[in-house]
Amino acid sequence: MAKKENPIWGWHKKVLEQNSLVLTVGVLAVVSIGGLVEIAPLFYLDETIEEVEGVRPHSPLALMGRDIYIREGCYNCHSQMVRPLRDEVERYGHYSLAAESMYDHPFQWGSKRTGPDLARLGNKYSDEWHRDHMRDPRSVVPESIMPPYAFLEITELETGVVEGRLRALRRLGVPYTDEMIENAESDLAVQLDPYSAGYDAFLARYPGAPIRDFDGNPEMVSELDALIAYLQVLGTMVDFSTYQADADENLR
Ligand code: HEC
Repeated sequence: MAKKENPIWGWHKKVLEQNSLVLTVGVLAVVSIGGLVEIAPLFYLDETIEEVEGVRPHSPLALMGRDIYIREGCYNCHSQMVRPLRDEVERYGHYSLAAESMYDHPFQWGSKRTGPDLARLGNKYSDEWHRDHMRDPRSVVPESIMPPYAFLEITELETGVVEGRLRALRRLGVPYTDEMIENAESDLAVQLDPYSAGYDAFLARYPGAPIRDFDGNPEMVSELDALIAYLQVLGTMVDFSTYQADADENLR
């Protein structure tokens, strides 16, 4: 018995599949519908990221540290995003929230993990550990293949540019206030000195920011001071002992 062909397939083959122009137009039509369905609703949402208590813009010192992190290409080996998978959550801690990187421009999620994820690094090690590790990673982790960054602690931080950095980020939507921008350079110094007069005003602007000399050398503001100030705040802004996500249900 001859195989009967569905007339629709016959039409599909003749008109669409054997006519590249019609096929192209057809593909474009289908893809556009899919695109519209995905993209159009976003224009009607005021905010695609749910704000979370505790997330604030970086302090000036940590922001300078972030710039060093980017300059040195740390993202080539380190990601900053804990995915909502059991093995990751057990290793690193609570999965990353979109809100935690909402003020990061550019964000540092990354996808390459030659070294571990750093999204929950803050408070995991002491400043001294970081100093030793940056000087010579193998002095604290013998099997490490991370390169040393010993020059950071002997390189003076260029603090004069910090006000401009805050201003630039404000243009991108980060809520730095006029007061934060005006005080950027002095706030940077205050964060390194727990005995300074600006202590309370600084903490009011950047709640929870650690205040101390990070590289162990109060004589100089080094690039290492900034980098450690940044590393020690990673993943610490949200208090996960009280955090309740509305969307958590969907992940279980
Ligand atoms: C060539 C890849 C590479 C680069 C580049 C690199 N790292 Fe690493 N990093 C590693 C590896 C591998 C480890 C794990 C071994 C260790 O702890 O040294 C690591 C570990 C770390 C740790 C300890 C993390 C933990 O939870 O134990 C920190 C902090 C860190 N790196 C920071 C940095 C910073 C900051 C930079 C940029 C200045 C950087 N790394 C650049 C490969 C790299």
